[in-house]
Amino acid sequence: MGRVAIVTGGTRGIGEAICRRLQRQGHTVIANYAGNDEKARAFSEETGIPARRWDVGDHEACLAGCAAVAEEFGPVEIVVNNAGITRDGTLHKMSFEDWNEVLRINLGGCFNMAKATFPGMRERGWGRIVNIGSINGQAGQYGQVNYAAAKSGIHGFTKALAQEGAKFGVTVNAIAPGYIDTDMVAAVPAPVLEKIVAKIPVGRLGMAEEIARGVAFLTSENGGFMTGSTMSINGGQHMY
Ligand code: CAA
Repeated sequence: MGRVAIVTGGTRGIGEAICRRLQRQGHTVIANYAGNDEKARAFSEETGIPARRWDVGDHEACLAGCAAVAEEFGPVEIVVNNAGITRDGTLHKMSFEDWNEVLRINLGGCFNMAKATFPGMRERGWGRIVNIGSINGQAGQYGQVNYAAAKSGIHGFTKALAQEGAKFGVTVNAIAPGYIDTDMVAAVPAPVLEKIVAKIPVGRLGMAEEIARGVAFLTSENGGFMTGSTMSINGGQHMY
């Protein structure tokens, strides 16, 4: 059965793979994005998936964006909170702004999107929320106090909201990707990335599609008994 699904940060990287996969599952997918109009236009032209621009870290913008999607396509039943940024640096070099932006967007975005869509899911008795966390929220990472805190927060947020949604047919799960072959990971300095990849038992970076397959399961009817969980897809880098 086709549902209306929003994927935040959906026009690039892991989000793009999730959009394409959910579309293949027969859903009406809407990709949210924050800034890159050119990429969003190319993505929409190629996939036929509409892209809508708003900042997930902006509470009012999220409410308005989700309301507009619901008006145009129908009630939102699937939300994938994928939008995220990095502002890496060791604590002694990290500015307050780098801390705050990562928390505002990566973790605040989950709250804002849930505020906009969870009440409707609860009322209708069906919903799926998948939050994209990270191996670095589970294990920590040198140079990422902001990102690790936000992603770790996402894992707690997931478990709390899952308890609130359970009896209303709304599942809330997280996926914790390891190092996936995306622009975000490509921005890690090459010698640092080499050392990280050397520690991945599977011996390679993950593919965005490998995360999308997890999302496909969690958002399906078959995923109905799975809630509050974290699916780790990391090539064995952190067994948690
Ligand atoms: N553990 C202990 N020490 C470390 C270390 C580690 N993991 N990594 C670096 N160091 C040490 C270095 O050996 C160096 O020490 P010396 O000066 O004594 O040799 C010192 O820290 C400084 O290291 P850098 O030269 O790297 O410092 P920098 O200020 O230039 O850069 C950094 C710091 C920006 C954090 C850089 O190391 C970096 O980019 N690291 C990668 C962070 C990372 O993995 N980000 C993931 C992004 S992708 C993502 O987040 C997606 C996801 O969900 C997985």
